[in-house]
Amino acid sequence: MPGIRLQKYLADCGIASRRKAELLITQGRVKLNNQTVDKLGVKVNENDLVEVDGKPVSPKRELVYIMLNKPEGYVTTVRDQFGRKSVNDLVKGVDARLYPAGRLDHDTSGLLILTNDGDFAYRLTHPRHEVKKTYHAQVSGIPCENEIDNFQKGLDIEGYRTAPAKFRILKRKGRTAFVEIIIHEGKNRQVRKMCEKIGHPVITLKRVAIGNLRIGKLPCGKWRFLNKEDISKIFEK
Ligand code: URA
Repeated sequence: MPGIRLQKYLADCGIASRRKAELLITQGRVKLNNQTVDKLGVKVNENDLVEVDGKPVSPKRELVYIMLNKPEGYVTTVRDQFGRKSVNDLVKGVDARLYPAGRLDHDTSGLLILTNDGDFAYRLTHPRHEVKKTYHAQVSGIPCENEIDNFQKGLDIEGYRTAPAKFRILKRKGRTAFVEIIIHEGKNRQVRKMCEKIGHPVITLKRVAIGNLRIGKLPCGKWRFLNKEDISKIFEK
């Protein structure tokens, strides 16, 4: 990585103007990875430790939150071992290093939040915070009352009992059903495994809401910034 000039880095940290930062450097008040730097021209990378007068400094970071309507066929990891397209390819022009808060499978579409706020991502994905996630799925067959009941009470999947969930049929189409599912957990392929378990495998799956924040009319493949109101909707009970 090429890095940025130490004086610009110091300016980005809000320590001083670039000119003043140059002075701090030439005065020998700046250390890079425990070594005093008193010459201009040195470059800094993201993981470097920079200190001014013995105190560590880091750039001010604006917190960014966006929602994306993820199409099928994209992975939510930044890099994929099979070279598949990543959701980050869809989010251009944002000057921040964003990563998905939670994941969606390659073949799942719908609401995905990307952010550079690690605390927020943790709060959103940790089951303890019980943020509900709402999915619309087309499943094969028509689930009966007993199967729906089992789904809602909890299922044993790979040695784990799922937490109470909601399941309702929206409409039937031939030998399939369109259903709405609400879960509070985010285990790998959880909705698919739960549907499979009650004998009604998923045909298509879309996340339509996180908390009370809905995907609404955001077109597939498009994204928008979240405002404060959107963010508070996520954590509404
Ligand atoms: N559950 C799944 O099975 N897949 C997803 O992408 C999200 C939830």
